[in-house]
Amino acid sequence: MVQKSKYVALKNYVPMGLPSEDDFVIKEQEIDLSNNNDVLVDNLWLSVDPYMRARMTEKKNYKEPFVIGEPMEGAAIGIVKKTNSNIFEVGDYVLSNYGWRDKFVNADNNLSKIKPNNFTLQSYLGPLGMTGQTAYTGLFKIGKLKKNQTVLVSAAGGSVGSLVCQIAKLHGCKVVASTGSDEKVDWLKNELNVDHAFNYKKTDNLVIKLKEIMPDGFDLYFDNVGGDFLEAAIFRMKNYGRIVICGRISQMNSTKTPEGLKNIAHVLVKRLTIKGFLIFDHENDSENFQNDMSEWLRNKKIVSKETIYEGLSKAPKAFVDLLNGKNTGKMLVKI
Ligand SMILES: NC(=O)c1ccc[n+]([C@@H]2O[C@H](COP(=O)([O-])OP(=O)(O)OC[C@H]3O[C@@H](n4cnc5c(N)ncnc54)[C@H](OP(=O)(O)O)[C@@H]3O)[C@@H](O)[C@H]2O)c1
Repeated sequence: MVQKSKYVALKNYVPMGLPSEDDFVIKEQEIDLSNNNDVLVDNLWLSVDPYMRARMTEKKNYKEPFVIGEPMEGAAIGIVKKTNSNIFEVGDYVLSNYGWRDKFVNADNNLSKIKPNNFTLQSYLGPLGMTGQTAYTGLFKIGKLKKNQTVLVSAAGGSVGSLVCQIAKLHGCKVVASTGSDEKVDWLKNELNVDHAFNYKKTDNLVIKLKEIMPDGFDLYFDNVGGDFLEAAIFRMKNYGRIVICGRISQMNSTKTPEGLKNIAHVLVKRLTIKGFLIFDHENDSENFQNDMSEWLRNKKIVSKETIYEGLSKAPKAFVDLLNGKNTGKMLVKI
C-alpha cells in the first residue's frame, strides 16, 4: 500500500553566515515497496550534526552539497515496518543515512541492523556511533594521547567534546574545557569532573586565560572550533605538543573569508604536530572503540547527555540551535 512520507529539504544554499529555519522546507512524497530487497522503515531518531552546514553551500567539501528540494541526508535510527528483504524482519532496528524523514523505503544493502543490548537506541547516534568514534579516534589514533597529559578541549559541552573530556579523564589526564554557556561550564565541572572549565564568550584574552589555567601549557589540543581559539591554543602548547583538528565550527557560519593562522612560527619553534582527520576514513577500525565505549557506558564511567527536540518539523530548529550552542551533549530529533 502506498504511504506518504514527510521529509525536510534544503530550500536554498546558504553560502555564508548563519542558516535560519526559513532555509528549509517540509515536503511530502509517496513511497512503497517495489523491489525484492526493499524495506520500509519508520524513523525514530534523527541525528543533527555540524557537518551538515558544510553541505549547505554549492562548494564541494569532502562530500557533495545537499540537493535542493531533496531530503537532507544524515544518520537516523528507525524500525522496519514492511520488508521484502531476506536480511531484515519487521521490528528490526536499523541505522541509515537517509536523513530527515519520518519514513522511507530503500534497498537493504545500505542499512545496518542495531541490537540495542541494554543501551538506548539513540546511543548509536551518540557515544556508540559516529560521535563517540570521532572522540575516541581523535584522541588515541590521531592525538596519540598518553596517560597524565594536559589536554585542552573546545566545544567541550557538545557531543564530541564532552566525550573527549571524559575519555581523557579516564586516561588520567588533566582536562581544560572551553564552552559557550555558564550552565555547560557547571555541567563540565560538576558532573564530568574536568579540572577546569570556562566560558569562552566571557573571556577577553584567550591566551592569558589559558596561561592562567595551565601555566606549563598543553600536550594535546582537541580542536572542534578552529579560528581564533586554535591560534590561542598554539601559543599555549608545550614543545612537541599535538593538535587534533576535528572541526572548525567557529568559521562555518562566518560572514568573512577566514584568515590564516598568524602564529605558524610557534608550530615550527615548538615542533608541534597538527593533524586533521575525518571519521569516515576510520569506519572499519572500530573494534577497540566499540569494546571500550560499551564497557565505559555499562559501568557509568562515561555519561552521555542529550538535547532532544520532538517531531520531524523541529529538525531545522534543532540544527540552527546546534549552531548557536543551545545543545548540551548530543543534539537529536525524536519522531
Ligand atoms: N572530523 C570529523 O570526522 C568530525 C566528526 C564529527 C564532528 N566533527 C566536528 O566536531 C565538532 C563538534 O561536533 P558535535 O557534533 O559534537 O557538535 P556539538 O559540539 O554538539 O555542537 C556544536 C557546538 O559548537 C559550539 N559552537 C558553535 N559556534 C561556535 C563558535 N563560533 N565558537 C566556538 N564554539 C562554537 C556550540 O557550543 P558552545 O556553547 O560551546 O559555543 C555548539 O553546541 C564540530 O566542529 C564538528 O564539525 C568532526
